[in-house]
Amino acid sequence: MNILILGGGGREHSLAWAAMQNPKCDRLIVAPGNAGIAAIAECAALDIEDGAAVTEFAVANSIDFVIVGPEAPLAAGVADDLRAAGLLCFGPSKAAAELEASKRFTKEVCDACGAPTAAWARFTQAGPAKEYVHATGAPIVVKADGLAAGKGVIVAMDEAEAQEAVDEMFGGAFGAAGAEVVIEEFMDGEEASFFVLCDGAHVLPIGTAQDHKRVGEGDTGLNTGGMGAYSPAPVLDGAVAERALEEIVKPVVAEMARRGTPYQGVLYAGLMIADGAPRLVEFNVRFGDPECQVLMMRLGAQALDLMLACAEGRLAEAQVNWADDHALTVVMAANGYPGAYQKGTVIGGLDGLPEDSLQMVFHAGTAERDGDVIAVGGRVLNVTARGRSLAEAANRAYGMVSRIDWPGGFFRRDIGWRAL
Ligand code: AMP
Ligand code: GLY
Repeated sequence: MNILILGGGGREHSLAWAAMQNPKCDRLIVAPGNAGIAAIAECAALDIEDGAAVTEFAVANSIDFVIVGPEAPLAAGVADDLRAAGLLCFGPSKAAAELEASKRFTKEVCDACGAPTAAWARFTQAGPAKEYVHATGAPIVVKADGLAAGKGVIVAMDEAEAQEAVDEMFGGAFGAAGAEVVIEEFMDGEEASFFVLCDGAHVLPIGTAQDHKRVGEGDTGLNTGGMGAYSPAPVLDGAVAERALEEIVKPVVAEMARRGTPYQGVLYAGLMIADGAPRLVEFNVRFGDPECQVLMMRLGAQALDLMLACAEGRLAEAQVNWADDHALTVVMAANGYPGAYQKGTVIGGLDGLPEDSLQMVFHAGTAERDGDVIAVGGRVLNVTARGRSLAEAANRAYGMVSRIDWPGGFFRRDIGWRAL
């Protein structure tokens, strides 16, 4: 079958890598792709948030199945356009993508079905928001309602910080995303990510992961898109995962169906776990990045079959074949990230690295220039490995990192430390 993957980061490289291993995949196009993806698939320039353009491209290239990587095309309704044209697509409709695109919407859905999450209130004006912050006290969490590229959340440890966040959001710091603000109870606990495929009616858990959001070792410093991840997440063990499925995921999926907007695709539940009880922090309507890279490393070729079963409404009969393994990914980022960073630095040492079912360097922000691989993003490489234990996976990943010659980049040496 001919497959089109939308996106061009490490997540999409890992999705492409898994799809390519499946004999069902005859031809693979990734739009826009990157230098690493170009080594295993065709890359095409395409405005992936333009549903009409994506549909036209898919029809012109006889595409049988479209996998949408990032949230922006989903929130823009690209999956709706593809399905309206009769194309098979992995990813939720615009209406169902509201679970990531609007925090207020998610809170309302949770309340409607009784899914445990932080107490909350919503505001469209600074005055009442600030009164609420003052009455509730800190710590407290202030969130821009809409998509803000992962930056619209302020976890305020004192009241002044929270008041400042309210002013910033209503002052337009996050554009239209901050026109409405959700203020939440601060939840204490350990965070983990739970990934579940949904075909509108049925759900199938496909793995757990934890990521490291802070730029510095020991989980210190500025927030980033993620400096590394590992799977499985020890804190999300069988009993906790079962509770998350029964108390959060299934009720939400049922509520979405009841509203006439069934959820189809991967549902990524960000959970806060305290005393064995999971509560929802947020939903994402796509795979996490870099969490996807460790999930794909563990699932391999079956990932394509599972995504197909999901898109075709056959999840009730699908099953995941687990190896009792672990995977870990180390993000290599450009010096300066998450602040201003240099682009165009040359990355050496990639050619000699092994690439097999135990280890892969997934490219996040790379391009090719005169035969060299150069860095063009903040997060640039995801050095990913699998092992019988997390320690084995970590050793294998860091072994590859040490062979990469990139003075323009840095990485954390302690990915997985909590679990190791
Ligand atoms: P989000 O974009 O909703 O994932 O929020 C970013 C991060 O802020 C989360 O990964 C948590 O670490 C933190 N966070 C968000 N909401 C809460 C909350 N209610 N309590 C504590 N931490 C939170
Ligand atoms: N790694 C966090 C995310 O993809 O949202």
